[in-house]
Amino acid sequence: LSKQFEAELGEAASQADILAVKAKYIGKKGEISSILKGMKDASPEEKKTVGKESNRLKQEMHKAISQALSEREKQEIEEQLRQNRQDISLTKSLLGQRHPAAYHPVTIVQREIEDIFTSMGFTILNGPHIEDDYHNFEALNIPETHPARDMQDTFWFSDMKHLLRTHTSPMQVRGMETHTAPFKFVCPGKVFRCEDTDASHEMVFHQLEGMMVGENISVANLIYFMKVLLAEIFGKEVEVRLRPGYFPFVEPGFELDIKCLICGGSGCSVCKQTGWVELLPCGMVHPRVLEYGQVDTDKYNGFAFGLGLDRLVMMRYGIDDIRYLHSGDLRFGQQFSEY
Ligand code: PHE
Repeated sequence: LSKQFEAELGEAASQADILAVKAKYIGKKGEISSILKGMKDASPEEKKTVGKESNRLKQEMHKAISQALSEREKQEIEEQLRQNRQDISLTKSLLGQRHPAAYHPVTIVQREIEDIFTSMGFTILNGPHIEDDYHNFEALNIPETHPARDMQDTFWFSDMKHLLRTHTSPMQVRGMETHTAPFKFVCPGKVFRCEDTDASHEMVFHQLEGMMVGENISVANLIYFMKVLLAEIFGKEVEVRLRPGYFPFVEPGFELDIKCLICGGSGCSVCKQTGWVELLPCGMVHPRVLEYGQVDTDKYNGFAFGLGLDRLVMMRYGIDDIRYLHSGDLRFGQQFSEY
């Protein structure tokens, strides 16, 4: 009986099969029970030995069955784990369908602008995010007591000497340190301001600084370069307006705005209902700034501009909230597959 039991238990594949074996052998109407029932008329001696033997058998079978059951359960869990195997280092979208990698729209536009400027003979410079007071303010004609410091809410380091650059204009100063006139360069990069965020403001954003220093540079030269730039970027004429703008490091200074391409000029959250977007502050480099940079102001002058890259990207792609740019949302990023 024991052998037969073992064989049947060995063949039982499912939990139900195992339970069936259990019922057949040690259940109320099972084999063991019927053996014991059949002992009714046996002698006390016989009863004792057979009873003892069948109890031992029953216990053994019990043990074997619960072992088989837990074994079976373990296998089931493993099987389930195998079937639901997931590589948690892969994102859901990568598991499903392959998406082509994409450059960030700011990178796309930045590289295009770099190409436009290198084709016009400009050099590309890169500068540090952590700046000192001298490069970010002082050498740009913004002394310590100047109210213009309040125009740009600054992230200061605790030494109060270093800061996260509030604009790319410190690269004008650094550019003059490493170049002798005449020269022209652009410098793209991140800038930081301690400001509240909304649809058109972020604490971290991008500018592209440009500076051209030479003989007899005029406002007409400046406007010409800015127009070429915008026409190339948008692939069409865009409506612009020029307003006087105040920056201590330029004189005269301008704000070049473009007609808001999100709302077409009727007013929206990006243009603050004005229909215009400030895109390109610029001006003729202030003589004092040139002097800080050891440029001979009798011979040379120049222009400078600080293009707002994020807003340009928003206008070009019709993005109505600057905060998408840093959202890290794959659904956003994957729309720009110019890889
Ligand atoms: N640095 C200025 C700003 O961020 C912009 C600017 C650059 C203005 C160059 C004039 C010339 O506000």
